[in-house]
Formats: sequence, structure tokens, C-alpha cells
Amino acid sequence: TQSEIGLIGLGTMGAMLALNIAEKGFAIAVWNRTTEVTQRFVANAGDLAPRITATQSLAELVRSLKAPRAIILMVPAGQPVDDQIAALTPLLDEGDMIIDAGNANFRDTNRRAQDAAKGGPQFLGIGVSGGEEGARHGPSIMGGGRAQDWARIEPVLQAIAAKYEGTPCATLMGEAGAGHFVKTVHNGIEYADMQMIAEVYGVMRDGMSMPAAAISGLFDGWNKGPLQSYLIEISAAVTAVVDQKTNRPIVDVILDRAGQKGTGRWTAIEAQHLSAPIPVIEAAVMARNTSARLEERLKGEARFGAAPQTLPEGALMPQDLEAAMIAGKILCYAQGFALISAASDEFGWALPLPEIAKVWREGCIIRSAMLNDMAQALAEEPGRNLIFAPFFADHLEKSHKALRKLVAQAALCGLPLPALASGLAWFDMMRTGRSTANMIQAQRDFFGAHGFERIDGGADHHGPWALQGG
Ligand code: 6PG
Repeated sequence: TQSEIGLIGLGTMGAMLALNIAEKGFAIAVWNRTTEVTQRFVANAGDLAPRITATQSLAELVRSLKAPRAIILMVPAGQPVDDQIAALTPLLDEGDMIIDAGNANFRDTNRRAQDAAKGGPQFLGIGVSGGEEGARHGPSIMGGGRAQDWARIEPVLQAIAAKYEGTPCATLMGEAGAGHFVKTVHNGIEYADMQMIAEVYGVMRDGMSMPAAAISGLFDGWNKGPLQSYLIEISAAVTAVVDQKTNRPIVDVILDRAGQKGTGRWTAIEAQHLSAPIPVIEAAVMARNTSARLEERLKGEARFGAAPQTLPEGALMPQDLEAAMIAGKILCYAQGFALISAASDEFGWALPLPEIAKVWREGCIIRSAMLNDMAQALAEEPGRNLIFAPFFADHLEKSHKALRKLVAQAALCGLPLPALASGLAWFDMMRTGRSTANMIQAQRDFFGAHGFERIDGGADHHGPWALQGG
């Protein structure tokens, strides 16, 4: 008997996704470049093995699928995806479909969708979030492609996806690269959420001399309030774990140098292309890049004296930190959704903002209680910046004071809070009716005759610079 769906690439994510699909009752055929990996995978599939067909060649994979075929690719993003499409294409028939479930750059997905429209196999790009656990038991899925192609695979995707109060977290976001774009911004927000947590962790560790176990306790408490989220939950968990070799908290023996595969960077790059302000995410990317320069940082510590210093006794209370995090989170998501909105306009996608917030409520890495409130606020008025939605405006009105206190105290003690501080700076800019860009315009006109608008009306004025010392 032929399988309903195929999957290529049995790395961690591919293997977990295949098991998830089989568990939901679909017969699946799998192929991996290395045959031993395929064999080992099926040998370890237990009860699910009867629904899984191991194949030894691409041709065998294709033969073992019901037509029209649907084949999921779970291979590293970039060239491997193009190679796999090139290898599969001659083996496929009209109507067959390739689904790229990796972390593709949406511009690649746009190009691949274009190739499909020119006569190649049908193509869907789906962003899949949730790590290993999510892939196995319910990820969040952000689709991009043609509605009719999505409809064909939707029953499988909805079956394997996470459920929020029964609603599957699997949504078609728009054409071509729309799903991978949304996944990219998801990852940018993921970087920012992680960075803000790391910053507050740093304030507690260095500014308040709190041991990891105490920090864990606070995270745990926050996870029961407005900050309830997967990332706070795992931060409570990791700070509670003890290293078996040294008996110290494991976070204390982990090197402070963070890597990235690139999705956070892509978010920042695309935001710059779109002139969309996302300083919190950009700061998070910057912070990872700075963390990587360990040697230079050590040199800096030797030259300028070690930062940070301990905060004055009682300068900050745990509830200040929680409130500051709430403000930071609202500002970060407001920026992220505004970026999505700008991309939607620019690329003609009509991205469904409330649906994006909904699809992130379960399964994905940034899942949190607040996303449900965001879904509601975006449904009220999708085009409005989230900071102006009454629910969040009220929240910010209260919590920005704590963010301000935290950023100010931290600055005095040399505790770097790039993400939280840039969120605050953006918030303050957003409530400054008279900004300082008049000075920028004057300078531009002075050195380049770029012209300026006047407050009393009219465009393309020039200053009398030459007459008065210019
Ligand atoms: C997810 C994650 C996942 C992964 C990325 C980001 O949504 O499940 O975002 O896709 O962790 O690879 O990782 P980097 O930190 O390596 O960029």
C-alpha cells in the first residue's frame, strides 16, 4: 500500500515530525541521505513503525507515495533545499507537491514558488516552530503558498499541530514566502524575548547578587502572572538545574557566548529594508554578536574596569523587574507586529495579523498568555500599533515607570540592558510630539541643500546658511 505523505531528512526535527504524522494516523514514507539513519529511525519507531515506510532511494520514496504526491523537506535551509528540489523534480508528476518545512529565508521561498508557477512541482513553504518537543507533539505552523495547495495538506498539518483550546495552530498566512516571513519574525521576537529574560537575569545575578536558585524561584512566580510563557518557564527550569560535574548551578558553568543560525539577523535586515523600527529585536541580534566577541570583552574589562557593579540596596524590587519585563514585552511585540504589517503592505500579502497572534498561542517557542490578548487587540483594529490598543496602552501606562527605573538604575551600575533600554527609548520617542529630527533636517539642508518643511507650512525650504556663517 502506498503512503499518504513523504518526508525527506530525518534529523531531529524531521524525525520528530515524521513520528507525529504517523501517530495521527497517516501512513508516511521517509528517506534520508544516509540509509542507516532511516533504518535506525524505523527500528526505534515502536508502535508507529507499521505506519512508516523506510525507503532507500528518492525513486523508491516517490514510488511509495499516493498520487498526487506530497513530500515534506526537512533539510538545512539554503542550498540543500534547492538541491533536494532539483533531485526530486524529474521524478515527480504534474500535481505533485513539495513542502519546505525548514527555516528558509522567505526570499528563497518566493523564488521557489515562482519556479513552481513556471511549471515545476507545486511548492509550499511552511514555518514550523516548537523545537524537538513541538515537532513531536504539536508545533505551530505558519504556511505560505497557494490556497489550493495548502488545502490539500491542511488535514495533516492541522492534525499534527498544537491546539489552543481545540483550535489547531496551523494557518495559511499568504502567498509564496509569507509563511516563512512570519516564521522569521517569530524567531526575531524569540531572540528578543530571550534577550530581555537574559538581561533581567543579569540584573538579578550581578546587580542583586542573587544565586541561580533564587532567580529560578522568581521566574517561576512570574510564570503564573501576565508574563506566563514557555520561555519564562524554561528559564525557571534551567536556573534550577545543577551541573553534575561541579555541583554548581548549570547556568554558572555555561560559556556566555551565543550563536545564531540567522533568522534573527534576517528579521533585522528585512526591517531595515522596510524602514520598520524594531529596536528591541535589533538589540537582541546585536547582543548575540557582541557576546561572541569574548576576547574583546575581556580586553575591555581589563582596560575600562569591570562592569557591572552591585545595585544600591533596595534600588529595585522583584516586582519592578516583572513590571519592566511586561513593558519590554509589549514594546517588542508591538514592533514585531508593525514589521509584519509593513511587510504585508510592501509584498501585497494581506497577512492576517490576529491569526498570526493566534497561531503563536500554542506550540511555538514564543507561546505565551499575552498572545491571546494580542490576538484580541489586533482583531479590534489590525492596522493599529499594539501600544495604542486600550488593553496594552493601559498596561504600558503602568509598567513603563518600572522599565524606566530599571534602565536608569542599571545604567548607573554598568549593567547592560540593550533590548530593554532600546524598547524604552522607542516608547519615549513614540510619545514625543516634537522630536529632534528638526535638527537632522537642518543639518541635511546645511551640508546638502536637501530642503526642509516648516512648522508654519510648506515644503522644500532652505535655511539662510550662507549668509550667517554657513
Ligand atoms: C523554533 C525555533 C527554531 C530554532 C531556530 C533558532 O521556532 O522552533 O526558532 O526554529 O531554534 O533555529 O535558532 P538560532 O538561535 O540558532 O538562530
